[in-house]
Amino acid sequence: RKKVRIHHLRELKQRGEPWPMLTAYDMYTAELFDEAGIPVLLVGDSAANNVFGYDTSLPVTVEELIPLVRAVTRSVRHALVVADLPFGSYQLSAEQALATSVRFMKEGRAHAVKLEGGRHFAPHVQALTSAGVPVMGHIGFTPQSEHNLGGYRVQGRGSAGDELLADAIALQEAGAFSVVMEMVPAEVAKRITHELDIPTIGIGAGSDCDAQVLVWQDMVGLRRGKAPRFVKRYADMAGVLSQAAQSFADEVRRGEFPAPEHAFH
Ligand code: KIV
Ligand code: NA
Repeated sequence: RKKVRIHHLRELKQRGEPWPMLTAYDMYTAELFDEAGIPVLLVGDSAANNVFGYDTSLPVTVEELIPLVRAVTRSVRHALVVADLPFGSYQLSAEQALATSVRFMKEGRAHAVKLEGGRHFAPHVQALTSAGVPVMGHIGFTPQSEHNLGGYRVQGRGSAGDELLADAIALQEAGAFSVVMEMVPAEVAKRITHELDIPTIGIGAGSDCDAQVLVWQDMVGLRRGKAPRFVKRYADMAGVLSQAAQSFADEVRRGEFPAPEHAFH
């Protein structure tokens, strides 16, 4: 297999072959997901609440995310690595968006960036793509705007569906190579997917998107508690890890670990 390029993703769309995307924030997950054939890995600002322990994605900074991006790009052989621009690092102007993206590309060695927002961010996307930075858009429910959107709610119901389509088209015309659609009615996502030439990537957007993305800790059941409707848990990693930690603790307390074969004599 070769390095995944943005034109490969468009070819998959043209052939009607859905593809998977996962988040990754470190070496082992990046290696494993790359070897599993996940073509695109996203170093999401979701690191805020899946790595750094914040309660929302808003507090995470460029300085916190760049080392994670660097770890992921160092660890993949094929996957296209997308760096998510965090809240406050691109909204001020197209110039700010470019300056931040250049840092993610030079210091993080990212292959592309992602930013949240519709038609109002077309100038930002245009500035990045003309400077050589591939951009993934993100519309529908955009977590960085959760306070403005009134919490985690489906976006694009009723007449808002037309607005969402207009946003998606504006991003495509500005040069975005793909667009994430989060918590959008399946019918709306299907229509937008059909109207666009670039791939759509769904999360809570039904089965008709060109691609599907999940946060890896959700996908493997590492994050506990009630998962959103769009999450499917493919493993019980929380159970596996907590079992292992308890067994280790018990064996140490009972004096069973280390055994003679674990010691040097
Ligand atoms: O930060 C993130 O993980 C994301 C994906 C859910 C698309 O933006
Ligand atoms: Na994100």
